[in-house]
Amino acid sequence: MRKDTLEAGVVGWPVAHSRSPQIFRHWFRRYGIAGRYDRHALEPEAFEEGVRHLLHEGFRGCNVTVPHKESAFGIADIRTETANRIGSVNTLVFHADGRIEGDSTDGYGFLEALRQGVGGKVPVNGPSVILGAGGAARAVADSLADAGAPEVRIVNRTITRAQRLAEEIPGPLVAVAVKDAEHALHDARLVVNTTSLGMQGGAPLFVDSTEAPREAVVMDLVYSPLETEFLGRARAAGQRVIDGLGMLLHQARPGFHRWFGVDPEVDASLRKAALESPAP
Ligand code: ATR
Repeated sequence: MRKDTLEAGVVGWPVAHSRSPQIFRHWFRRYGIAGRYDRHALEPEAFEEGVRHLLHEGFRGCNVTVPHKESAFGIADIRTETANRIGSVNTLVFHADGRIEGDSTDGYGFLEALRQGVGGKVPVNGPSVILGAGGAARAVADSLADAGAPEVRIVNRTITRAQRLAEEIPGPLVAVAVKDAEHALHDARLVVNTTSLGMQGGAPLFVDSTEAPREAVVMDLVYSPLETEFLGRARAAGQRVIDGLGMLLHQARPGFHRWFGVDPEVDASLRKAALESPAP
């Protein structure tokens, strides 16, 4: 018989940078759960075998990070509608009968962080602009379309990738070349950076959100540094800004709920725990 432990973890390659253990361990302490959550480094070739090993060990499931989100989609026996639409999975739930369920909670995490950041409803009262067309952009675009956004403009260096995203994900999505970004921003209500540009020590972003109206909400999924240059300029221009940590925290909630039966809260103490230097 399968063992049943209060254990989950995160698999990635590399995975040492993941802040998920701080998040889950904070919730274990807060809700008095004698659970365990560690990082598991799995090379791409060892992904499926590694996940099946965790299943065999009695894990409740695991989070999946770069570069395994598409492979996780591939090995899932059951998938949520969201996972099917975006073609990737970041949360695996192991069922007692051995089946693996795959969900993608990035879009949910994004919307919840956005709601918390604006203190109310998701701003879908006008066009949204997404910078980037990678995996994170797919989740954000899908969640905005699902939330009723009237138009979602995808600005990407490689226009063909933005076009593919706009074709593959249902909703009012349009691809925009970087040279046309200024025009795409001029009436935007929401601007989201989903690229890794602006990370500590890296190159800056290719556009400035200050081309958007002062009333626009500006969000950066980069959380190291918490206040990127992109957000700093937006803040100085009077735009409302939301950093990338909230999405990281909220995307972890559905997994914790499914695995351990408690819907955990995302609050200031969790933010603090996630920002502490990574524990082993
Ligand atoms: P993720 O899954 O985290 O979204 P990804 O799939 O590698 O990561 O996507 C990275 C995004 O950042 C892409 O939109 C990429 O643009 P391209 O599709 O043109 O590659 C964008 N990006 C990365 N480095 C960039 C750079 N130096 N200039 C412009 N865009 C860049």
